[in-house]
Amino acid sequence: MVDYSLETVVEGKTKVLVPDVEAFRKSPSSYPPSDAPVFYNKVMELNRDFALATLRVYIALYSKKEKLFYCEPMAGSGIRAVRIANEIENIFVVINDKNPHAVDLIKENVKQLHLTEKTSVYMDDANEIMVRHAAERNRFDVLDVDPFGSPSVFMDSAAQALSYNGFLAVTSTDMATMCGRYPKACIRKYASKPIHSSISHEVAVRMLVGFIATNLARQGKSTKPIFAHSTEHYIRAYVIAEKGITKAKESMNTLGFLAHCPSCYAIESKKGIINTLSKQCPQCQNKNRLLGGPIWLGDLYDEPFVSKLKSEVDNNPENYGSHKKMAKMLTLIEEEVKAQKTDAGICFFDLHQISDKLNIPSPKVESVIEEITKGGFSATRTHFRTNSIKTNAPIDKIVSAMKKVLNI
Ligand SMILES: C[S@@+](CC[C@H](N)C(=O)[O-])C[C@H]1O[C@@H](n2cnc3c(N)ncnc32)[C@H](O)[C@@H]1O
Ligand SMILES: [Zn+2]
Repeated sequence: MVDYSLETVVEGKTKVLVPDVEAFRKSPSSYPPSDAPVFYNKVMELNRDFALATLRVYIALYSKKEKLFYCEPMAGSGIRAVRIANEIENIFVVINDKNPHAVDLIKENVKQLHLTEKTSVYMDDANEIMVRHAAERNRFDVLDVDPFGSPSVFMDSAAQALSYNGFLAVTSTDMATMCGRYPKACIRKYASKPIHSSISHEVAVRMLVGFIATNLARQGKSTKPIFAHSTEHYIRAYVIAEKGITKAKESMNTLGFLAHCPSCYAIESKKGIINTLSKQCPQCQNKNRLLGGPIWLGDLYDEPFVSKLKSEVDNNPENYGSHKKMAKMLTLIEEEVKAQKTDAGICFFDLHQISDKLNIPSPKVESVIEEITKGGFSATRTHFRTNSIKTNAPIDKIVSAMKKVLNI
């Protein structure tokens, strides 16, 4: 029974009942989504908008089926899954949460939106429902794993339950761990050493994709990352899994190690499951480079997918409450797609950080990009961090471009 304070929100084209989270706030400093009987976070609208937009693009570009079988194993109020059932055609939606209050609210939303024929609602453990769908005839074409904190304990069953050519979306809010505040916890959860520095959010995304790839490879499935973003307190990765042991081995060959120099900020990466990067920086000879990995060292974005996603958002703003933020982010990500075509794709240089170190003013990013490209290198902005650039220019060339722009 849903006998607590609710409100109606409209996301996309769908009216959904959610807990009136402010009514449950325990203290001025508490986090209201967690205080309510059922989790609902308005801030995650962008995450959900991208879930719908990417699904539309997956259907347009890559799905080979007439009707898709979708599952959200940790659905909270059900807002994401009922939006999908309500707004996407030719889909059957399995909605699950272990919290009985969440399940009552999901059922209420399903009833109000007349979606009973298109959905089924369960109150199971997320791993249990996914493993029940591990047999090939029974797998999900689309799986959206959106847990509290770390997705690590759900990846093995998600990799089993995903169909061949299936579309997997994963959120992680485990940022303190993945960005290197708790390296031992990170190694335990993701079998990867994090890097605690200005590039840690991109390293975290690459760690998440690498972890997904490792889990999929075990099931004889490859990993094709098609989209990812880092936003405020979370990261999100979208991949397509293809059938094949050979392709799965190729995915594993895409893992490797990365070094970030805390002195000159040079970045070096090398594929391989055994680290061959040294602690000493070849640029400035500092002996204490930060080493992390294994992480995904391949592309994070599929160019046709990102381009179609940008037009999906631009042409249908009424479908996405966060369309302005999405479009802004996608403009930067389109630049990153260009960087990924050169050897500039892996991580970035924070111009503020370099300026601080050199004790010079921070130059305009666009001007530095222009100056670097004049020198024949590639340079783009990145959505991962403001005042930062992805470039294949070595650090000394970046510094001279910064000084040239500043006339010093
Ligand atoms: C971050 S919330 C989900 C929010 C939702 N996806 C959305 O877009 O609003 C995480 C949900 O996972 C549920 N949950 C946590 N651990 C679970 C498990 N092992 N099995 C099933 N549900 C679980 C919680 O009850 C909670 O509703
Ligand atoms: Zn160095």
